[in-house]
Amino acid sequence: MSDTIHSVLIEDRLFPPPAAFQAKARLKDLAEYERMYRRSIDDPEGFWGEQAKALIPWMKPFDKVLEWKEPFAKWFLGGQTNASVVCVDQHANSWRKNKAAIIWEGEPGEVRTLTYGQLQQEVMKLANVLSSMGLQKGDRVAIYMPMVPEAAIAMLACARLGAPHNVIFGGFSSEAVRDRVNDAGCKMIITADGGYRRGQVVALKPAVDEALAKNGCPTVEHVLVVKRAGNPVQFQAGRDHWWHEAMQKAPAKHVAEPMDAEHPLFLLYTSGSTGKPKGILHTTGGYLVGTTITSRYVFDLQDDDVYFCTADVGWITGHSYIVYGPLSNGATILMYEGAPNYPDFGRFWDLVEKHRVSIFYTAPTAIRAFIRAGDHFPARADLSSLRLLGSVGEPINPEAWMWYHRVIGGERCPVVDTWWQTETGAIMISPLPGVTATVPGSATVPFFGVDPEVVKQDGTPCGPNEGGLLILKRPWPSMLRGIWGDDQRYKDTYWGKLAHRYFAGDSSKRDSRGYLWIMGRVDDVLNVSGHRLGTAEVESALVQHPWVAEAAVVGRPDEIKGQAVVAFVTLKANAKPDHDVRDTLRDHVAKVIGAIAKPDDVRLADALPKTRSGKIMRRLLKEIAAGGVPKGDTSTLEDLSVLAKLKDED
Ligand code: WT7
Repeated sequence: MSDTIHSVLIEDRLFPPPAAFQAKARLKDLAEYERMYRRSIDDPEGFWGEQAKALIPWMKPFDKVLEWKEPFAKWFLGGQTNASVVCVDQHANSWRKNKAAIIWEGEPGEVRTLTYGQLQQEVMKLANVLSSMGLQKGDRVAIYMPMVPEAAIAMLACARLGAPHNVIFGGFSSEAVRDRVNDAGCKMIITADGGYRRGQVVALKPAVDEALAKNGCPTVEHVLVVKRAGNPVQFQAGRDHWWHEAMQKAPAKHVAEPMDAEHPLFLLYTSGSTGKPKGILHTTGGYLVGTTITSRYVFDLQDDDVYFCTADVGWITGHSYIVYGPLSNGATILMYEGAPNYPDFGRFWDLVEKHRVSIFYTAPTAIRAFIRAGDHFPARADLSSLRLLGSVGEPINPEAWMWYHRVIGGERCPVVDTWWQTETGAIMISPLPGVTATVPGSATVPFFGVDPEVVKQDGTPCGPNEGGLLILKRPWPSMLRGIWGDDQRYKDTYWGKLAHRYFAGDSSKRDSRGYLWIMGRVDDVLNVSGHRLGTAEVESALVQHPWVAEAAVVGRPDEIKGQAVVAFVTLKANAKPDHDVRDTLRDHVAKVIGAIAKPDDVRLADALPKTRSGKIMRRLLKEIAAGGVPKGDTSTLEDLSVLAKLKDED
């Protein structure tokens, strides 16, 4: 079975939109789509101005659509709105008041439903709680939470006050929390005692305590704690507060203040090619326009849908396609707390059946794990409510696409393979399910206003089927506005590689049909289970360990995770390991960054292969990692310097 998962299936079948889907779709006419796309490219300001007016409520209309001072963009200038009004009040004050906004299921199986009216009450109360703790417009708030409705409520309450949130994935370590809180200068942390994952309580508050210990985060004044798992936690008087106690005392009404379109909405840290994660900055108006329009057209969101995105709010997918995009459209979202394989690999399918999910969005790595687990899991559930399937995070191999289409979608659901990034804020390349004929493995065509090209290193366009760098030729409303505190890095990383072009960091090709195929990162960033991980980040964690002299981290193809993390390590001459080196270093990385960064393989070497100028020969290491040397054999010290002498290149 496993051999079939990654073998190269050449799949060139076209899957036109299924007729039954198309009949109901918001956009069903290819000519209309083409006209809209043309307009978005020929008259971007006209297109986006109209869309922005129609898509979200403005508290003050904008008077200029775009100001582009490369590489800095401002969208919808003069306009004011408030993200919590767009996502909540707009609907709570309408016929959607009693419509479910969030259906939540905890891993142990309990269910809570919040209508738009109830969500509004919670967001208003929390906004009052946060202001009473001294939080003001512009202050940053870290959110370190399990997947509970309070995570979304916290984001929306911060947005209501104009306090940019900085969500930190609950799987990150206390050290990662400390770095992200300090880089952003957060004034508050919103967290929980713990959450459920594979039947266990994952405690979060102790990690916050550790991050804050010894004045580790000097800017943090208050910590607000949701009681979720009931595990014992320590409280520091004056600093720590229970969410439920604070909420009880809070007034139920809160008037949202209008925010400028360019007011910062959030920061989200993501890995790059240096050891230091970057705080990607998104602002209010453009981000909301981008997430609203893509949710509407890519997911074809309609009022009777139940939409389930399996991401965590700690990643951009959770921001854009659990919280902001779907709620802005007044959709009903299903939010699930736990692991996909708890109590077994049928959990998602049981959720689909129980809550009559109609739109399902997940990552290829999950799909490959489901293939391996076996078709009997989806077979036991009634999946007939599904009408659309989405994929995100990494290239989807045609086998996984076909399985998804056949076994989960019953051959009646279009599959949208959506390419985008933390930086793009919203989906950039994707089929539109009612109009685009799909090809398994291709993300197909650019979304409205997106102008991509595949180019060579020198910036000249590649021919059909020729691999090159993926670039975008113009700004778009939901693009990042910068890297927190580092304009130079923003310029160099995204707009400095090729003149006047946004460089995505991915390689790609365009086939003779004009469809785009995303092939993977071209920088030193790995994609492990759909999560971005900088090799330099893992290396800097490794060299923090007292035994380690040097470390080089590379990716190895992995049939489930996409890429696995392989670390080549040399030890200091005086290192006296008293434990298994491999396990110790793997645990050390998990402690410094989080379990997602744990190397799958640690290889000890006498020396790392280097060029004459002292550069580590990563290409050689990648070959070694992918090739014959027995996995996990830490007893053989690899004499990589010998190999390097044979292959002095890179
Ligand atoms: C990188 C961005 C966007 C949300 C999840 C990841 C890869 C993303 C696809 C896709 C091929 C994809 C790219 C991209 N990626 N979607 N449909 N096909 N590759 O967000 O952590 O910012 O990572 O994920 O390499 O650059 P992220």
